[in-house]
Amino acid sequence: MYDLAIIGGGPGGYVAAERAGAAGLKTVIFEKKSLGGVCLNEGCIPTKTLLYSAKVYNYAVTGDHYGVYVKEPSFQYGEIVDRKDKVVKKLVGGIKAAMKGFKVEVVNAEAKVTGRSAEGIAISADGKEFLARNLLLCTGSEAAVPPFPGLKEAGDVIVTNREILALREQPKELVVIGGGVIGMEFAAFYNTLGTKVTVVEMLPKILGPLDDEISAMLQKVYAKRGVNFCLKCKVTGIEGNTVVYEDPEGKVCRVSGDKILVSVGRRANFKGLGLEELGVEFALNPAGRPVGVKVDSKMRTNIPNVYAAGDITGFSMLAHTASREGEVAVNNILGKEDHMRYEAIPGVVYTNPEVAGVGLTEEQAKASGKDFTVVKLPMAYAGRFVAENEGGEGICKIIVGKKYHEVLGVHMLGNPCSEIIHSACIAIETEMTLEQLKEVVFPHPTVSEIIKETAFTIK
Ligand code: NAI
Repeated sequence: MYDLAIIGGGPGGYVAAERAGAAGLKTVIFEKKSLGGVCLNEGCIPTKTLLYSAKVYNYAVTGDHYGVYVKEPSFQYGEIVDRKDKVVKKLVGGIKAAMKGFKVEVVNAEAKVTGRSAEGIAISADGKEFLARNLLLCTGSEAAVPPFPGLKEAGDVIVTNREILALREQPKELVVIGGGVIGMEFAAFYNTLGTKVTVVEMLPKILGPLDDEISAMLQKVYAKRGVNFCLKCKVTGIEGNTVVYEDPEGKVCRVSGDKILVSVGRRANFKGLGLEELGVEFALNPAGRPVGVKVDSKMRTNIPNVYAAGDITGFSMLAHTASREGEVAVNNILGKEDHMRYEAIPGVVYTNPEVAGVGLTEEQAKASGKDFTVVKLPMAYAGRFVAENEGGEGICKIIVGKKYHEVLGVHMLGNPCSEIIHSACIAIETEMTLEQLKEVVFPHPTVSEIIKETAFTIK
């Protein structure tokens, strides 16, 4: 009998397993592919590794801006991909070691819930039966691929985040359907390496949930570097290696590439797990279709002792959300008071320049009817940013409540904002006011000082 069985070894599952193991719970984790899940094997880590190679190449190309000359900078695409694989392998090894360290049993097999009794929850995997007092579902999500006419016939021209990572040859021309996070990160990577990139996006802006001003700035940067953006464009079909779409005037247009990346969102994995039979309730979209496992703020499903965390909930599909949700579930299993809060979850896009934000955007603040003020400064107000980003653009925007000056949102464009956004997360999580933020001593010289400088511009 296990105290906790976890299905899915991604950042929701393996972090929960570590916390549970550390707390002394007898824990088993089931993973049918590779520990680390999409994040480590086909998502966050491999893309950031590729993007870092592109960044290093870009440093070589633009070295002259810093008085450094590199003769004929070049790269070996295969070696970039090999390094990505090496990084993934190393980190998967790290998780395996952590599981061992925390005495978590790892079962490399597909698991299915087979029943529930007074004794516990039964799970079958690898031809064996496992019984656990608590179950945590962390089966993640997969790329949603709409049934565009002609998509099947296009064969391996069509790639999602998974197949594109495995390419051994750099596409000369890439069409990206969907200018969201995945689309823009791959657009950035391939654009830096010289691939001709076109982004076809149905909304009037890239990176929909991002602050409008920042999204427009990023688009301008990449348009200047040659990325072709087709906004308000609806894809109507695929013809071989050609994407057919309708432009805003309803004109039928075509754009071709040797690869077509479909990055139009992700779908939670909750089918085939035996959840329907168990009576687990699902969250429904406005059309009444199930989009994920329904949970409360303690990550409990409607079935006692059955919890869910991460993308399987169909909500806030981010690795760091998943990990925190896993921790919340484990704390509740341990009888500790803990619940999930989503106000201070950061979002980062690892383009170059990076984008990072947390809390309400200006548009969301307006829509919420809150009385708020926006303060903002160019990143160039931070000395370190100027030193390290020759000619680089950037902005820091803080959204604050008008009356109490509480921090409602912080949004930035400029390197390395992914590494400094957590200070804004802390400010929002602890309900800090700008006055309190101003009293915090930030290290000098760092780009992080831009947050404090921006706070001082409040009237
Ligand atoms: P997304 O939801 O970020 O973007 C999808 C985009 O496709 C949207 O802009 C949408 O308007 C557009 N779209 C949808 N249907 C379309 C159509 N038929 N034609 C043209 N455009 C269409 O989804 P994405 O980029 O696939 O990412 C999936 C998930 O992975 C997200 O939840 C994201 O948060 C997560 N992720 C996070 C990363 C990060 O934190 N840096 C990196 C990569 C993924």
